[in-house]
Amino acid sequence: MSAINLRGRPIAITGASAGIGRATALACAAAGMPVAVAARRTDRLDELVAQIRASGGQGIAVKVDVTCPEECRNLIDATVSAFGSIYAVYANAGYGYERAMHETPDEEIREIFETNFWGSLNVIRPALVHMLAKREGHILMCSSCLAKLGLPYMCSYSATKAAQDHFGRGMRLELAPHGIHVSTVHPIRTTTELFDEVARRSGGSRIYAKGSGFFVQTPERVADATVRCLRRPRGEVWTSMLVRLGLAATVAFPGLTDRVLARIKADPQRQAST
Ligand SMILES: NC(=O)c1ccc[n+]([C@@H]2O[C@H](COP(=O)([O-])OP(=O)(O)OC[C@H]3O[C@@H](n4cnc5c(N)ncnc54)[C@H](OP(=O)(O)O)[C@@H]3O)[C@@H](O)[C@H]2O)c1
Repeated sequence: MSAINLRGRPIAITGASAGIGRATALACAAAGMPVAVAARRTDRLDELVAQIRASGGQGIAVKVDVTCPEECRNLIDATVSAFGSIYAVYANAGYGYERAMHETPDEEIREIFETNFWGSLNVIRPALVHMLAKREGHILMCSSCLAKLGLPYMCSYSATKAAQDHFGRGMRLELAPHGIHVSTVHPIRTTTELFDEVARRSGGSRIYAKGSGFFVQTPERVADATVRCLRRPRGEVWTSMLVRLGLAATVAFPGLTDRVLARIKADPQRQAST
């Protein structure tokens, strides 16, 4: 299959005020896609749109809280009215926290599902109406490598990412006959504000503390891989083959994996940092 020419194909991206969403918006604009950027912090979105336009691209900013279905519908309407159509939607907005399940109120677990999981469906559903009518399009969700592995203290986050992953997989097969691609993105640890948010919501961080090392990447790396996936659609976007294979091994050897993960709790060094 030849590469899809992205020039002139509009995309709406949630969580574009920071990190992976922002980097992806810039990469998509550089590939010639008109971009609708969405989040709650409009000052950042306005600055991003100014940057896109200054580089010769097309962009609009739309204030969206992804937990609100009406605001998500408004994002898709605004994209179509600004650019004439919508080709792709990237449900990227999300956050995390660290807390043992027995110390986490139900409300907090429902809340993270509202943003990470339902926030994805809220924006995908109205975009799908246009894609089904045109019999073409591309749906992307930013899941995580943790979709494949539940970590202690991060089981709520991992569960939302696994839900995106499983929905993505099922939808991929449902929508292929309609000419619509569905992809999930599975970043490893990426240098974004996610870690600050984890620490803010958790009063510190046991395991998700910002760090450096071999398994840390930039948001631009994820963005480039995502644009490659838009050009040549694939089911899952990974930026580390080593992590991908390692996670496959954790499925094959759950007992061994648990023994390794048990050290997270025992190691006081990991109780650090904000
Ligand atoms: N960083 C990593 O290591 C990593 C690894 C795997 C997966 N991911 C996933 O990557 C995605 C992007 O995260 P990031 O790392 O780029 O983090 P980030 O820098 O903290 O960005 C998160 C984005 O989500 C938006 N957001 C959060 N809640 C929202 C809501 N209710 N409505 C609208 N927008 C909302 C934020 O915008 P506003 O606050 O302005 O609304 C922000 O633009 C997330 O789904 C995350 O789970 C990240």
